[in-house]
Amino acid sequence: MKQVTYRGPEQITVDEWISPELPANYVAVKVAYVGVCGTDLHLYAGHMDSRVTTPHVPGHEMSGVVARIGAGVNEWKLGEKVTVRPLLPCKNCRTCNEGNSHICPKLKFIGVDLGGAMQPEWIVPAELLHRIPEQITLRQGALIEPLAVAIHDVRMADLDPTDVITIVGAGPIGLLIGIVCVSRGHKTFITDIDQTRLDVAKSHGMIPVTPDQVEAAAREATNGLGTDVVFEVSGSAGGATLISSIVKPRGKIIVVGIHAELRQFNLQQIFHKEVTMQGARVYKSIDFDDAIAFLATRTKELEPLITKVFPVEDALEAYLSLTRGGSIKNLIAISEPAI
Ligand SMILES: NC(=O)c1ccc[n+]([C@@H]2O[C@H](COP(=O)([O-])OP(=O)(O)OC[C@H]3O[C@@H](n4cnc5c(N)ncnc54)[C@H](O)[C@@H]3O)[C@@H](O)[C@H]2O)c1
Ligand SMILES: [Zn+2]
Ligand SMILES: [Zn+2]
Repeated sequence: MKQVTYRGPEQITVDEWISPELPANYVAVKVAYVGVCGTDLHLYAGHMDSRVTTPHVPGHEMSGVVARIGAGVNEWKLGEKVTVRPLLPCKNCRTCNEGNSHICPKLKFIGVDLGGAMQPEWIVPAELLHRIPEQITLRQGALIEPLAVAIHDVRMADLDPTDVITIVGAGPIGLLIGIVCVSRGHKTFITDIDQTRLDVAKSHGMIPVTPDQVEAAAREATNGLGTDVVFEVSGSAGGATLISSIVKPRGKIIVVGIHAELRQFNLQQIFHKEVTMQGARVYKSIDFDDAIAFLATRTKELEPLITKVFPVEDALEAYLSLTRGGSIKNLIAISEPAI
């Protein structure tokens, strides 16, 4: 039984796993599949070393089955298919008490601040488990976490049914936001510098446009106004400069992308058009529930977002191939639970 271990910048090994103790109120999830995302790539590059204690097991987008149940846990049965909402808030601060524990200032993200899912058994608090229904396979279940991000982002946008949308960045999160918007009948433009990703967006009913043409396309579709809502999901300098020119007067910009550096951004346009800017970070429990319900009725539509499943021995390749372009979501198969 193997685990993936991060040992320092650009050092990942696959090692023998040692079964850990199971504390009370925790569950051991036998991990089936783990998705690799941009956060995992940042961690691999060493950008998160101030938060990570090495050796570290990465991973947070996963599916599995309940394998062991700690004392005091009554709501789970052995063998149930589950995914995990990987957030540990302090539960004690004003933000937590106001119902926003997902942005608790002391929030720990499991998989970064604590050991993650790329191991045969992931020991997590029972309260973080979400049941995966029959219609969703374990392979598809690894998409629930990024889909919950997208569901949260769309919820934060508080869309009007007639809103026209632009999404900047057609990575897994931008595509999932687009799929949710299209499912609700919104005309949805999406832009990216990666043509493969724009082709995928088109196959899901979005209108793909190159970054140099997105402003003109958005204006043409809206009598010159700009789109009602713009999602920034590229995390790029180019994306940051683009968004304020695409949005209509009194429109909304939802900032989803992680911008680790300061960006050039046109505040004059925000003022001039009375634009609202809204951040959107991870998810609440209800976003996981809604993501599961959404996926359960659209497994055939979402499955093609999984580009390739790598055996755990090839974990590094699952990371590196993402950086070469042409992929959407790579999964690592940790084990094959017998269900
Ligand atoms: N808000 C949250 O809680 C949350 C959760 C997950 C990911 N994220 C962030 O959201 C962003 C998207 O995540 P992802 O997994 O889809 O990442 P990704 O890196 O796969 O996708 C980003 C996309 O933006 C495109 N891009 C880069 N520069 C561009 C430009 N100038 N114009 C248009 N497109 C451009 C890239 O080609 C890529 O396809 C990342 O910044 C990620 O860190 C945020
Ligand atoms: Zn992720
Ligand atoms: Zn808190």
